[in-house]
Amino acid sequence: MTTLRLFLVGLGARSRVWRQVIAAEPRARLVGVVDADPDRAAAVGAELGLPYATDLALLTARVDADAVILVTPPSGRAPQIKAACAARLAILAEKPLADSVPEAASFVAMADAAGISLMVGLNFRYLAVTQALKTLFADDRLGPPAFGLFAYERWRDGRQPHINRYPLTMQHPMLWEQSIHHFDLMRYVYGAEPLRISARTWNPPWSMYAHDANVAALITFANGVEVTYQGTWAANRNSLDFKWRTDCARGIAVQADMFGDLSFALRDDPAPTPVTLARHEPWISDATGLFEAFLAHVSDGAPLQCSGADHLQSLRMVEAVSVASAKSQTITLNTPPAAEPGCHRLQIDQVQPERRNKG
Ligand SMILES: NC(=O)c1ccc[n+]([C@@H]2O[C@H](COP(=O)([O-])OP(=O)(O)OC[C@H]3O[C@@H](n4cnc5c(N)ncnc54)[C@H](O)[C@@H]3O)[C@@H](O)[C@H]2O)c1
Repeated sequence: MTTLRLFLVGLGARSRVWRQVIAAEPRARLVGVVDADPDRAAAVGAELGLPYATDLALLTARVDADAVILVTPPSGRAPQIKAACAARLAILAEKPLADSVPEAASFVAMADAAGISLMVGLNFRYLAVTQALKTLFADDRLGPPAFGLFAYERWRDGRQPHINRYPLTMQHPMLWEQSIHHFDLMRYVYGAEPLRISARTWNPPWSMYAHDANVAALITFANGVEVTYQGTWAANRNSLDFKWRTDCARGIAVQADMFGDLSFALRDDPAPTPVTLARHEPWISDATGLFEAFLAHVSDGAPLQCSGADHLQSLRMVEAVSVASAKSQTITLNTPPAAEPGCHRLQIDQVQPERRNKG
């Protein structure tokens, strides 16, 4: 059995999950680590007994590897993507791929031109609850989904020492860091692309974030599903409340926890029926599923999942929400045959938003 030789770039909060997942996988091993902070790079390199550097290109010049996991903030990743392509390393990059649609599209084009696989870390797709929800809609018991309510309400204390700090100062932290997962899940589970988005983002008076911690959106998907979305990192109770309800032709499906708690009911059922889910460890099982898909692709030639090109569609939703809010307009994506009155078509790829990550 050959083992996949990996570099881990970015040794902050999220890297702890990746270190645990890689350590548990006999078909892969770390062969070097990178962090822009020289003390952090040296400390982790010493702890793991591995070569380390402050820049990926410096490491690829002296150590051979097969793939890289990018766990850096989404701003300023161009040198890392270039270095990975130059060294012919398959890339697994944490979401969001970049902090603007044009930059993310340029990374997808760069990897494509170099013949390098680019996967994005959309770990929530690999939860048992996500797979079960997708199956529920596919097996026709409930009939086709028609409309949904997706609510994610969290008091996220961004000053805690064990989490990243850059969202405190970036533009649209909730949208780019968190809603991106939710929009990806909607596209994945409903199996449809968005057509129209109207939205409002704002920052509650007590928010610790410099920019908008609240996102409200109405999203129309190409298969007719209408979703009402509310996401916040500034809910005013120290908890994480999650609810994703979908009303279908014959009944409803309700996911009541970010990691599980799925049930369904037909219209006249007296009580919902819980769906039995495989055991999972939050953050670890989902990242493990994602990593196994990456390994299957790179090592065994399985089709690439969560591709960078696919991720661009979710990033376009993110961008559309911020533009819809700023301009008080409905934004049309994936243009239907004829534009509707009062609906403003936007070429999201041409929008040059302000740099999002100031941190
Ligand atoms: N999928 C998930 O569930 C999930 C969860 C948390 C974070 N993330 C994502 O992971 C990424 C990193 O988040 P984090 O929480 O680890 O952030 P963090 O700020 O805690 O850590 C980032 C690390 O990257 C280093 N770094 C910055 N620029 C670099 C560069 N050019 N080269 C090398 N190292 C550099 C920093 O010094 C820091 O150590 C983000 O994209 C974030 O959205 C994903």
